[in-house]
Amino acid sequence: MYQRYLDAWWPILLQTSQRTGYARPRVTLLDAFAGPGRYEGGEPGSPVFILDRLLHHTAVDRMHLSPRRVHLVFIEKDRARHEHLLSELTDRFGKLSDLPVRVEVRRGEAGRDSLPVLTELGAWGHPILGIFDSWGSVNVPLEVTRRIARNRSSEVITTFGPNWFSRREELNADILDAVFGGRGYWTPAADEARPDERWRAWLGTYRSALRRAGFGYQLQFRLVPRTGQHLYLVFGTGSDAGLRAMKEAMWKVDDRDGESFQDPRTRGAEAVGQLDIFQAAGACDPELLELVTQRLALGNATVETIGQWLLTETSRWMPTHALKAVRQMRQDGSAVVQSTGRLTSKSLVSLPAAA
Ligand SMILES: C[S@@+](CC[C@H](N)C(=O)[O-])C[C@H]1O[C@@H](n2cnc3c(N)ncnc32)[C@H](O)[C@@H]1O
Repeated sequence: MYQRYLDAWWPILLQTSQRTGYARPRVTLLDAFAGPGRYEGGEPGSPVFILDRLLHHTAVDRMHLSPRRVHLVFIEKDRARHEHLLSELTDRFGKLSDLPVRVEVRRGEAGRDSLPVLTELGAWGHPILGIFDSWGSVNVPLEVTRRIARNRSSEVITTFGPNWFSRREELNADILDAVFGGRGYWTPAADEARPDERWRAWLGTYRSALRRAGFGYQLQFRLVPRTGQHLYLVFGTGSDAGLRAMKEAMWKVDDRDGESFQDPRTRGAEAVGQLDIFQAAGACDPELLELVTQRLALGNATVETIGQWLLTETSRWMPTHALKAVRQMRQDGSAVVQSTGRLTSKSLVSLPAAA
């Protein structure tokens, strides 16, 4: 999924100046939990595929790559993994200093070293994408995400592995205070008694932290691989283009990638994948209908408002899906359209009155 997101991210930032307002912005990608560059099964790790996808991007000729302009920073704490990453990158791409982008491979601590390295590279004031893919040990202080959130055109992707949602007594309260900005913010999630609700509580808690950090939009979802364990992801951005690019990346991920997604707002339903099945049948995905019902439970809304809510509050649905969902719900009686006549973006919609 990162790959698909980055395929969209690089050209948005490097090819045009419209989004950022800079003539030729400097762009920094920080992968702060970089890993060793290769998985045991041989698959490339994130630093390798990030660099590979950039250097071989279909639009690379229009991106004006230069080491002054494009910075890729990889931080890895473990000595052996750091060394492995360096040799992996060099074996694959040759001498790093000869590349058309600047690649920094640092041994360090994500929480402690992210801000200083961004300062050292002159990244502030230009777009930054921070990837905090620790899986288990999210320990990046809110101060780091706050600095990135308040920097122009900057975004973060944070992942959580299943062991994050552990029992309260296994949590390090001081670290969590730093990550969430204070005890009161995270203890309700830690106290969530129902095990199958714990991940939702933590994801929602982190999502709120990103909002407090200053990101206007935050997406959250559970990645469901065909095999292996779930991975949880929260994305923060201030930009409409970034939000849409992330959602589009999710739509492009399909069964061939061996992944699907679940919106934490939906319960019970299996992870939604293979959206085409419903589309081919001309019907709306049940997840979409469930989410629109949730929005209407908050109060009456126009189709347009529902669409905006889908965009900013749900993992993958876009404004255009609102009209289709309301049309189907009107037909089957699960929603009422207040105005007569043609359904438009201004039509007011409500749930049917309780019998
Ligand atoms: C889940 S792996 C990263 C996987 C990588 N993003 C990929 O897709 O190939 C997490 C890595 O972060 C490293 N790590 C753990 N704590 C860290 C910290 N505080 N700062 C930097 N790296 C850390 C671990 O050694 C491990 O290699």
